[in-house]
Amino acid sequence: MRYITFALSKGRLTDLSIRLLEGAGIDCTELKSDSRKLILSDEKNKIRFFLAKPADVPVYVEYGAADIGIVGKDTLLEEGRDLYEVLDLGFAKCRMCVAGPKELEGKMDSVSITRVATKYPEVARSYFRHKRRESVEIIKLSGSIELAPLVGLSEVIVDLVETGRTLKENGLVVLDTIYEISARMVVNRVSMKMENQRITKIIEDIRKQL
Ligand code: PRP
Repeated sequence: MRYITFALSKGRLTDLSIRLLEGAGIDCTELKSDSRKLILSDEKNKIRFFLAKPADVPVYVEYGAADIGIVGKDTLLEEGRDLYEVLDLGFAKCRMCVAGPKELEGKMDSVSITRVATKYPEVARSYFRHKRRESVEIIKLSGSIELAPLVGLSEVIVDLVETGRTLKENGLVVLDTIYEISARMVVNRVSMKMENQRITKIIEDIRKQL
């Protein structure tokens, strides 16, 4: 029997993903150990795991280097990979929003926006092109996106909002919600066919806990 390989997202989603797998009867002892080993396993169930940067998880799954991935919908939207999204795991909930200074509230349609800062350039491009039919310059940043409108880098941002605290403490507001975000389970298209029974069982065991 071959291994079923999981690609898990490093960071915020790691602990919640492990808890979910454990609840589904998968042994995560090795995964939880403080090891430098990159590939860890549950030998009894013939399951392997590795942790990767969230943006790389859909890549591993699309190429079949992992059969299953756990990753945020934000990353899936940005990466646009060809995968089966099989489960909404319901954790790590937040919203992908357009945000900016209070002065722009309710004025998005009358003010012309020239620059948008974001960690999600594809999501932002698609939103401004298709939903707003505006041609804007997208500026890609790697973090602390809320800084951009404060220092005049852009008028607005496209970013994740969870509690809204970062926006509030910086005098910014949500101007539009683009997507509801949460963690998702994705499966490689070929694996879904070749290992259908085992993967369906894993999906069902995980679904029972949601
Ligand atoms: C995320 C996101 C916002 C913040 C939203 O950033 O990009 O900045 O969390 O959370 P809140 O609504 O609860 O305040 P993260 O902490 O991942 O760091 P980053 O800014 O470096 O991306």
